[in-house]
Formats: sequence, structure tokens, C-alpha cells
Amino acid sequence: MSARYQLSGTTAVEISAGIESGIRTGALSPGAPLPPVRALAADLGVSPATVARAYQELRQRGLLVTAGRHGTRVRPNPPVAARRSALRPPPLPGARDLSRGEPDRRLLPPLGPHLAALAADTGPSVSYSDAGVLPELAEAARARLDADGVPAGELTITGGALDGIERLLGAHLRPGDAVAVEDPGWANLLDLVAALGLRPIGVPVDDEGPMVAGVAAALAAGARALVVTSRAQNPTGSAVSAERAEALRALLAGRRDLLLIEDDHAAELARVPLHPLAGATASWAFLRSVSKPFGPDLRLAVLVGDETTVARVAGRTRVGAGWVSTVLQRLVLALWSDPAVDELVRRAAQSYEQRRDGLLTALAEHGLRAHGRSGINVWLPVADETSAVTALRDAGWAVAPGALYRIAAAPAVRVTVSSLHTDDLAPLAAALAHAAYPTPPPGFPT
Ligand SMILES: Cc1ncc(COP(=O)(O)O)c(C=O)c1O
Repeated sequence: MSARYQLSGTTAVEISAGIESGIRTGALSPGAPLPPVRALAADLGVSPATVARAYQELRQRGLLVTAGRHGTRVRPNPPVAARRSALRPPPLPGARDLSRGEPDRRLLPPLGPHLAALAADTGPSVSYSDAGVLPELAEAARARLDADGVPAGELTITGGALDGIERLLGAHLRPGDAVAVEDPGWANLLDLVAALGLRPIGVPVDDEGPMVAGVAAALAAGARALVVTSRAQNPTGSAVSAERAEALRALLAGRRDLLLIEDDHAAELARVPLHPLAGATASWAFLRSVSKPFGPDLRLAVLVGDETTVARVAGRTRVGAGWVSTVLQRLVLALWSDPAVDELVRRAAQSYEQRRDGLLTALAEHGLRAHGRSGINVWLPVADETSAVTALRDAGWAVAPGALYRIAAAPAVRVTVSSLHTDDLAPLAAALAHAAYPTPPPGFPT
């Protein structure tokens, strides 16, 4: 905790408000430790139960986390404050930043020509009563999903994959309910689960997707929803294989008490076939975002699912945000309909694959097995995350510490390959090898 931030208050409400304000202003930074309950109670002259209530309220709202002997801390990305990226040490001047998990902007299709065409062809604004999902966009989305074997279902549009997941979890679950999530898994999803007051249950992941025994254990522990990344899992790059999909479908078959959410955020960039689980359970939703292939600023994802699930999401959207702008929907439709854009996305996918495979091969030459079957990240197990991240920073490379993505998974770092050049591979692999295991395992060259 910052030495300068003085916690105060004599009631649980005042204490929690003081902590929240400290987080909001940045005086309590992400990850900052809070005093033990008894110590703070003695400091403030209140009972330990009062401080415990304040901490509990903030935990339920996703602002604090309590982790055994590590005590209570501010969450890495509390839903009122600085972004999770605040946990990452800022790259030193001149360092290469491979920590961000972003596509290479130079490989995104240019939006200008399609925006200009739209501008020329746009009449007065669509009215409240006429707005909704554009039928032409729905038809194009269905054709794309049919081609990938996603079962037919109802369809709606959300403001991106994470917005869809938030609406799905919000409509089906209540605070305190358990959600099975991949471990390691997408940091933003872990933050969202915490912010909704839900309990994450980690499901171990290997290169073929969530492990069957882990999903079975999460179900046995009472998970009410399961979120699976179809391909380009973040951070490990895993993709659900045909065999894993079959085994998971068998495990989930006919379950009426579980909401299955699939996140196909990599979509056209994935370069590995889709093996959907969609339809195995009574309640299901499959999300396909346009962020990675076409640009993260296009806040749009297609959501298909069973009638009840989609009606809940669409109905909740209608009474709140209303709809996803039809201007944006028309832009996405224009991008989907342009063969030149298809070709750019195909080339981007190929280029990411070359960079990823290049780094995996270079690491293998140092005796290191890293993960990255698909997508834009490589996940490298390390002996100690903090010293690995620091050693790499000193060598001029910024990578993301695995702690952002892990619940119980082993230490690792995430390296985003999207901006790598061929010339980078050998020096980066050497730096990673040195940082991952400062004392190399016997028998391996350094
Ligand atoms: C696993 C996963 N899902 C979804 C997304 C993108 O979601 P959105 O459509 O909200 O931009 C990302 C982006 O990093 C991701 O890693």
C-alpha cells in the first residue's frame, strides 16, 4: 500500500468508500496490499467485524482480492480504476513492447475506403423504431457461421465479445454464482467475472483446449456457466481440437443447468479449423468478434444461441443501450463483402502464424517448449515470473507477466508476436531462454 494513503472511517460503509476513493484516484494502485483486518481495526478504533464487512463488500464488487497468505490486495484491474496494464512495468525507453496482446495495426484492413463509400450512401439516421440487427448483416453472419459448422440458432449483435459475455452472465447468473473459466485465461474475462460478483473456477487448459477432467470438476463444484475460447486462446494460443470437442460435448450433453459460452474472437485469423461445442447444452451462446481480424475499434460481435438465451441478451440490450449502431453494422457488412479485405485478413493470419511458429522453433533450439497453436501470443513457462519479466526488460523486451492470466496455473510469461520481424527471433529467443531459466536445465544449450 502507498505509504501516503491513509485509510479512514468508523463504519464499514465509510471504510469501503475510503478504499474505493483511494483506488479511483490512484493512491491505492492495482495490486497494492491492504492491512490485515485486525491491524486496520486497531488503527481505526473499530471492531474487526466492521473492517471485514468493508473488505467483503469491495471483494464482492471486484475491487479487492484476498489470496490466502498474500492477504487482501487491490485487484489488478478493479472496475473503478486504472487499467490492468498498470500492473505491467512500463517498457524502458527504446524497449520493444511485446506485452499488449494487440494485432499489428499495419495488418488491419484500412477502414477509409469503406467509410467513404458509406458516407456517400448514407441517408438520414435510422430511427428508434426501425433500429435493430440489420437483416443483411444477420444473413452474412449466418452464412459465415454455417460454413464453420456452428449450429443454427437465434442471432443478435453485441458491442464486442466481452460485451456479449457480460450480457450473457448478467442475464443467467446472480452474484455469488460460480463460472468455469480457462486457467490460464483472458485477463479481461477474469476482471469481468470479479466485477459481476461471480466466483471463477479455473479449468486447466492444454494445447487442445479446456481439459475434460477440469471441466468435470468445475461442474461438480457447481459452475453455472462455462466460458471456452474456441481458438487463439489468450494467453496460451490453444484451440479446441476435434477430439477435445467430442469429449467435451459428451460431458456436457443435455445439461440443463449450465450456460455454455464460446468465444471465437480470432475468427478469420485463426488458421485452425473451428470445432464448436455449441448446441451440446440446452443454454448456449457462440460469439464471433470482428476485433482481431478487422480492428478492435469496431465494437461488434455476432452472438448466436438458443432462443431463450438470445432473447434475454437482445431484450436486455433493448431496454438499455438499445442496439449496436446500424452505421457500424453497415461498415462491418461492407468489410465482409470485399474480397480485397478477405485477402488482407488471410495474409495477416499467415503472417501471425509465421511469427508464432518462428518463435516456437527458435525457443525449441534453446530446449524450451512454449505454447502457441494459434493466434498472436506465445506462452512460455518460466521458473519465476517477476525475475523473468525484469531480466527481459533489462534486455530490451517488455512481455506480460503470467500472473495477469492465472488462477492456479504455473508461472509463465506471455509474448505477443504480432509485431515481430524475422531478425528478432534469434535474439528474442536467447533473451527468453536466459530469463526463463537463469540456470538452464542440465543438458540444454544456453
Ligand atoms: C479471448 C478473447 N476474447 C475476446 C477478445 C476481443 O473481444 P472484443 O470483441 O470485446 O474486442 C479478446 C481480445 O484480446 C480475447 O483475447
